[in-house]
Amino acid sequence: MNHSNISCPKKFLLTKNNKLRNKQVLVTGGAGFIGSEVVRQLHSLGAKIIVFDNYSSGRKRYINKIPNLVQVKGSVSSPSKVNDVVSKSDYIINLASLPFIPDSFYYPGEFFRVNAEGSINVAMAAIRSKRIKGFVHISTSEVYGTAKTVPMSENHPTLPQSTYAASKLAGERAIFTLHKEHGLPAVIIRPFNSYGPRITQPYIIPEIISQIFHNKNFVKLGNVESSRDFTFVSDTARGIISGLTEDKAIGETINVGSNTSYKMKYLVKEIAKILKQNVEIKIDKKRFRPYDVQKLVCDYKKAKKILNWTPKVSIDEGLTKTVNWMQNNSPDFATPFEGWAKIYRMNL
Ligand SMILES: NC(=O)c1ccc[n+]([C@@H]2O[C@H](COP(=O)([O-])OP(=O)(O)OC[C@H]3O[C@@H](n4cnc5c(N)ncnc54)[C@H](O)[C@@H]3O)[C@@H](O)[C@H]2O)c1
Repeated sequence: MNHSNISCPKKFLLTKNNKLRNKQVLVTGGAGFIGSEVVRQLHSLGAKIIVFDNYSSGRKRYINKIPNLVQVKGSVSSPSKVNDVVSKSDYIINLASLPFIPDSFYYPGEFFRVNAEGSINVAMAAIRSKRIKGFVHISTSEVYGTAKTVPMSENHPTLPQSTYAASKLAGERAIFTLHKEHGLPAVIIRPFNSYGPRITQPYIIPEIISQIFHNKNFVKLGNVESSRDFTFVSDTARGIISGLTEDKAIGETINVGSNTSYKMKYLVKEIAKILKQNVEIKIDKKRFRPYDVQKLVCDYKKAKKILNWTPKVSIDEGLTKTVNWMQNNSPDFATPFEGWAKIYRMNL
């Protein structure tokens, strides 16, 4: 198993300034799926990194070979522990979250405690510390709900369709008002669906891949007609870090997505092609999510204008990399589906 490849697109290294070199960057949720890619890219930029994570889904092994990185175990729900790590930092990327939508159907209060109140704890510690130069808060495209118009710019109405999305909207709006009220140098990034190596949650792409590994010629899925805008995780992470280094982004809310939307049934076809397998889709009614979002398509013009960000990795390349990673690593969520409520993996 190799969880530790340190990679960062060369172009990014060459074109980005060295603002983060030798700076202390705190990454909450840095042991998670997106976080473990963010810290790799931060390392390539010469930053010193503190990862603050409670390892509810993040994995120490995803980041333990990265130099100049300190791991601190703790929860964003604990203001004293948060104060401690924030007081040692120059920049913050706030990724810590409960992110898996079906878990939020059954644990709504916990989702608000982590995704809304936890984010406020990090922001208030940053305001009190008076030394934070940049604060990127990670929201989500799910705050929009299903597309009313496409592509979806940052001005699309926000009509969350899950308690997860409602908790993320509460979190990002609190960060925005704290920016206005106290001058917190905050940037809000709304990533659309991200995928790639070092998976931590049974999101749709790893779920399809692991079902094909297990069942060979069929997958059981719910709403295969719904579509999402997928971005490879190295692109998502590059967008997040660009938000940290670009002064013009402060006070802005910025989408990071690919402007292409794929139906779940298309993903099955593409992954089956990569694995050279004939795969039938069996519809499993238990897997339909209540009040599901039907379609998301990102308009990333603002990211291009302010962050000079565009996605680089095609869906074919990204899916192949994800399949390869899963062939060599076994994410530990890959248990048989037993209904949404049983999936919640909090192990504090
Ligand atoms: N993956 C996506 O497609 C996607 C899309 C949009 C937004 N996001 C957002 O990106 C962020 C990262 O998501 P991810 O997909 O990498 O999921 P993830 O579960 O891998 O990452 C979340 C991290 O936060 C940590 N964490 C959870 N609760 C915590 C707490 N109370 N205190 C400290 N750490 C805690 C987890 O252990 C994990 O390392 C989240 O904010 C999520 O809402 C993800």
